[in-house]
Amino acid sequence: MNVRKAVIPAAGFGTRFLPVTRSVPKVLLPVLDTPSIHYMVEEAAQSGIRDIAIVISEGQEALTRYFNPNAKLEKALASQGKDELVQRLRAISDMANITYVHQAKALGLGHAVLMGRDFVGDEPFAVFLPDDLIWAEKPTIRDMTAIYEQHQGSVIAVREATPERVPNLGIIDPEHLAGNLIRVKRMVEKPRLEDAPSRLGVIGRYVLDPQVFSELENGKPGALGEIQLTDAINALAQKKGVYAYEFPGVHIDVGVPSGLVKASVYEALHRGDDDLRQWLRGLLDDRK
Ligand code: G1P
Repeated sequence: MNVRKAVIPAAGFGTRFLPVTRSVPKVLLPVLDTPSIHYMVEEAAQSGIRDIAIVISEGQEALTRYFNPNAKLEKALASQGKDELVQRLRAISDMANITYVHQAKALGLGHAVLMGRDFVGDEPFAVFLPDDLIWAEKPTIRDMTAIYEQHQGSVIAVREATPERVPNLGIIDPEHLAGNLIRVKRMVEKPRLEDAPSRLGVIGRYVLDPQVFSELENGKPGALGEIQLTDAINALAQKKGVYAYEFPGVHIDVGVPSGLVKASVYEALHRGDDDLRQWLRGLLDDRK
C-alpha cells in the first residue's frame, strides 16, 4: 500500500528556545523566513503525502493559523499588486490537508505519535520530527517510502553521529545490506556512549507499519521516563523486518538555537545571498 499519511509531533514546550517559546510554538521559529513545520509539510507533499496530522498541545493555536488561508492579508497584498506573493501564500494553504490532534499530556514522543492512531488507521504512515531539517536532491521521505514499498517493513533514517551526540539519540544495531540500506537488529534510545551498539543515530524521518501503534500502546516508559518511539520500533524489529536508510544530503538539528542559526545561514547561502557570504567572510577574518 502506498504511504499517504503523515504524523508530525509538534507539541513540545520548546524549553531550549525560552523565552521566545513563551508565546511562539517552537515549530514556527523561522529558518531564515520559513518555519521548520513548513519544511516538513513541503517534504511530505513533494513525496505524495497530502494527509497530515500535526500533534499540538494547549497554547499552540498560532500553529493552526500558519496553514490557514488569510483572506485579509491576501486582499491587502493584491491591492498593492503583489500577486506573486499572494500565489506563494495560497500555495502554502494548498500544500496539504492538515488535521490538528491534541496531546493533553507530555508523555513523550511515542505517546505523541500514538495520538495520531485514529487519523492514520490501518495503513503505513510517515513521521517527521520538525527539529531535523534535511536538504537533499530528492525528498528523504520519498526515498524511504520506496524502500517501505519494496521491503514491506518500517524504515528509519539514520546518520553517523559524533560521540557527543550519541547519548541524545536513538542508536541502531546495524546489519549492513546493499548500498545505504541497513537491517535494524535492535535499537536503543539515548544510550550511554559505552553501551551504544553503533554510532548510527536516528534522524527524525520514519515510515512506519501501523503495528507500531500496538507496541506503543503496550509500551512502558523508557529513557527520560517517557513513552519512546524507539522502544516501540525496537519491539517491532524483533518480530518483523525493520530497515534503516543512511540518507544523503545536509542535515541540521534546528532543535537548538545554534542549529537554527546554522540552518538560516545555510538556507540564505543556498538561495545565493552573496551579501551574507561576504559579511560572514569579513566577520571570520576579523576574528582571526
Ligand atoms: C528523538 C528520538 C530519537 C532521535 C531524535 C532525532 O529524540 O527519540 O530517537 O534520534 O529525535 O532528532 P529527541 O530529540 O526528541 O530527544
